[in-house]
Amino acid sequence: MKPLLRTLRGEALPRPPIWLMRQAGRYLPEYRALRAQAKGFIDLCLNTDLAVEVTLQPIRRFGMDGAILFADILLIPYALGQKLEFLEGEGPRLEPIRDAAGIAKLSNARAADALAPVMQTVKGVRAALPPEVTLIGFAGAPWTVATYMIEGRGKTDYENCRRMMWSEPNLFASLMDTLVDTTAAYLNAQAEAGAEVLKLFDSWAGAVPAPLFDVAVLTPTARIVKAVKARHPHIPIIGLPRGAGTHVARYAAETGVDAVGIDHMTDLAAVAAALPPGVVPQGNLDPMLLMVGGAPLETEAQRILAAMRGKPFIFNLGHGVLQHTPLEHVARLVELVKG
Ligand code: CP3
Repeated sequence: MKPLLRTLRGEALPRPPIWLMRQAGRYLPEYRALRAQAKGFIDLCLNTDLAVEVTLQPIRRFGMDGAILFADILLIPYALGQKLEFLEGEGPRLEPIRDAAGIAKLSNARAADALAPVMQTVKGVRAALPPEVTLIGFAGAPWTVATYMIEGRGKTDYENCRRMMWSEPNLFASLMDTLVDTTAAYLNAQAEAGAEVLKLFDSWAGAVPAPLFDVAVLTPTARIVKAVKARHPHIPIIGLPRGAGTHVARYAAETGVDAVGIDHMTDLAAVAAALPPGVVPQGNLDPMLLMVGGAPLETEAQRILAAMRGKPFIFNLGHGVLQHTPLEHVARLVELVKG
């Protein structure tokens, strides 16, 4: 069995499998070349030939144990009919949804068709991957996707989200319901197309007011995991409740995920020890160390390896690879972990 799948089933391997969040992307010259051929970022995600190629680029160059499907968490709002653009150097812009009329316009019925090209990418990658490399499909978790849908952009204080959650809980719940259904169907379709592991990115879980953590993060995630496991009982699911701090152990215990991504703000060994039996930790090198390189990178990578030796563990970053990361630092990290 492939190393990443063995680890996710609870085996401690002689060295942990490694893959990196955002391992495909702008730090790679071969990505920038293909990106220039596409009409825009959404086009790149929905162009099967280009998306297959971009998924494989970091595997060819560095030999990670996992390939993450090239797509984006914002394809769901796009597929539901929300207007989405990626502005050069500024990130995503969406037409914000803040009332019942906006939510009523979202169409679950058209989402599957709009997302069909992603399934072709999954099939294409699966056919082309080296036999020991695992294909990871993914989606954004409902809360993180909702922050973009409600605010209309990233890098905010989530004021419109928090206002809606407190003042119109039923409206917020109806948006969560739509996202749970669409996301579960999307992940099931990825599994059917050949994804071997699924990941739910809750990148902004740390922004949820603590009393609302269950409503925004825990319950929607648990519902998606249940709907996917009902169809695909054996597919491992990794959750990333980034910034969730004290909620992480409960997230691991109550959502049904098989593995939890730990961010670099968190003490990996301490959280790993608090996880329920059978839940595998993944993480948590600071992506800045891949920019810095040299002795700090070596020391920290070795510290993480030593802390997790003999336990089931997936080596990754605490968040995505940064745009100006030097290629040789990524190559060195993979070499270090592979030993
Ligand atoms: O290598 C991979 O990780 C595979 C593909 C992938 C992308 N986005 C490609 C991408 C994955 C798994 C994502 C997830 C994603 N997208 C998240 C969750 C993970 C995280 O980083 O917290 C989020 C929050 C998004 C939303 C998103 N997409 C933003 C905010 C931006 C703009 C900021 C940025 O980093 O550029 C994107 C664009 C994006 N997604 C790019 C890539 C390679 C850059 C687009 C470009 O080429 O211009």
